[in-house]
Amino acid sequence: MLPEKHVFVCIANRPPVVGPSCGGSGSPAVIERLQFAILEHSLMDKVRVNGCTCLGPCESGVNMVVYPEGVMYSKVTPEDVPEIVQSHLIGGTPVERLRSSSQSA
Ligand code: FES
Repeated sequence: MLPEKHVFVCIANRPPVVGPSCGGSGSPAVIERLQFAILEHSLMDKVRVNGCTCLGPCESGVNMVVYPEGVMYSKVTPEDVPEIVQSHLIGGTPVERLRSSSQSA
């Protein structure tokens, strides 16, 4: 069964000489917090979380994108996860303050 929402979190680790990357900016902790929240809210059948490679705005990591809406969030920290889960994944309203500036609304 397909989930209602699919969250892709960038876990890319670029060579430091190239610049920052989401893996080095804390994406493992963001994924861990997301998975915990999904269990906490019994969303296992509705939301799927996957790590992915580079989404583009590497200097603004941690980046993640939520489908089917295609909403990208940047500079996400573990502390932001409860708000994203409650507002967007459960309530259907994206968290505007975290939307990527590289994404036109
Ligand atoms: S490394 Fe995450 S967007 Fe490029």
